[in-house]
Amino acid sequence: MPRNQQILLDNRPQGEATVGNFRLVAGDTPALQDGQVLVRHHYLSLDPYMRGRMNDSKSYAACQSLGQVMLGGTVGEVAESRHGAYAVGDKVAGMGGWQEYSVVDGNAPGLLRKVDATQIPLSYYLGAVGMPGVTAWYGLVKVIAPKPGETVVVSAASGAVGSAFGALAKARGCRVVGIAGGPDKCRYVTEELGFDACIDHRQHGDLQSMSAALKAACPDGIDGHFENVGGYILDAVLLRANAFARVALCGMIAGYDGQPLPLQNPALILINRMKIEGFIVSEHMQVWPAALAELGALVAGGRLRPRESIAQGLAAAPEAFLGLLKGRNFGKQLVKLV
Ligand SMILES: NC(=O)c1ccc[n+]([C@@H]2O[C@H](COP(=O)([O-])OP(=O)(O)OC[C@H]3O[C@@H](n4cnc5c(N)ncnc54)[C@H](OP(=O)(O)O)[C@@H]3O)[C@@H](O)[C@H]2O)c1
Repeated sequence: MPRNQQILLDNRPQGEATVGNFRLVAGDTPALQDGQVLVRHHYLSLDPYMRGRMNDSKSYAACQSLGQVMLGGTVGEVAESRHGAYAVGDKVAGMGGWQEYSVVDGNAPGLLRKVDATQIPLSYYLGAVGMPGVTAWYGLVKVIAPKPGETVVVSAASGAVGSAFGALAKARGCRVVGIAGGPDKCRYVTEELGFDACIDHRQHGDLQSMSAALKAACPDGIDGHFENVGGYILDAVLLRANAFARVALCGMIAGYDGQPLPLQNPALILINRMKIEGFIVSEHMQVWPAALAELGALVAGGRLRPRESIAQGLAAAPEAFLGLLKGRNFGKQLVKLV
């Protein structure tokens, strides 16, 4: 059996997460039992929810134990199998965690699924046609439920979730406005993803300025908003929201290291009779097949062209993860292991 490298959660962050919270270890992979599959991971997914898991407090993802391999989505191939449904070489997606290999119980429902990497690149199953894509689909279709011609806004627009949201909303005939950090990300959002406009939050770093930028980009007001960041961006959206606007509250990454995110204008929720709904994509498994089918068609048709930031090798994962929390990624953040 091959040697395996793993990254463990070593200690919990005090405020900002640091590379010192993680520990790299090496060991042997255990021999397979009947029904088990050995998966060699090609890519590891880095996702903002992992920051919540590092704390011993309430978050939208359950906390994980110290000394445990960091949890996370992976794609790879079957390296050895003692399960009839999986053959060596099969491409699979699962939750293998921050390690080079995982031993998976092939009979446990939902732990491993075969994917077709002949039409869609394997890594996309961690992004546009994986959990982030379905997240965008759920918030748009089930929470915002836009009509053609309505204006929808998304923060972290160039990222894994935001980019999928844009393609899905354009396919429904919406005016789509993104918010992203920096001119390169904004150019990608409009020119490659086909958004109607993109606001650079680094140029509009306070409530008044962001509100003015939203007013210019959304002349008919905002009917739907997909929130990934929180803080003054959400406040600025409230100022420009139309009556009966809907907000899909997906993430509040600006506060994941413990920063407070006060709202200046919560009365606008009442004045505009708004709906604000938080959701967690893993609690809505029934929508995944329909969402993945639509996302796969958008990718195959070239109407969703996701970008990826790829760190090389397992040891690079902690630094890349901290970069993701600071916006240093450009598109879906992955770690390439093979
Ligand atoms: N509820 C759910 O089930 C669920 C599932 C998946 C993801 N999510 C949430 O969805 C959001 C996006 O996730 P993702 O995987 O697609 O990540 P991502 O957008 O690919 O990467 C995170 C991005 O957040 C932006 N950001 C970070 N800190 C910021 C700050 N202080 N102010 C403004 N922007 C900031 C950065 O983009 P800019 O440089 O453009 O600012 C960064 O690139 C996250 O909040 C995540 O927690 C929720």
